[in-house]
Amino acid sequence: MYNDIVMDHFQHPRNVGEIPDADAVVEVGSPECGDTTKIYLTIRDNRIVDVKFQTLGCAAAIASSSMATEMIKGKTLEEAWKLTNRQVSDALGGLPEKKLHCSVLAEGAIREAINQYRKKKGLLPWTE
Ligand code: FES
Repeated sequence: MYNDIVMDHFQHPRNVGEIPDADAVVEVGSPECGDTTKIYLTIRDNRIVDVKFQTLGCAAAIASSSMATEMIKGKTLEEAWKLTNRQVSDALGGLPEKKLHCSVLAEGAIREAINQYRKKKGLLPWTE
């Protein structure tokens, strides 16, 4: 049911772990299944120079977090903010429709982490 790209990111996830002195750390939960994903960001000059994740989620959540973290590494905060779960799913070659909600976890965690950082810097959080 999962394609080769999804299986690869599930079995060999990129950017797993934690960043002890991260500039932003958030954990988000999925209302659909109760699983959670935690994202750590290191930000320098408005750019994401490092990102790590930990997830208590299914194969699709692991693959999505792995792909999403790869896609935002090196990007500006504005670019990372625009990343949608649909883009992550497309980059994975598609997730089964029933598993699309798993990719929302990574997108939500990245956005919350960006806003946590903005608030720390005294900036207004971004909305849609
Ligand atoms: S079923 Fe919970 S994240 Fe996929």
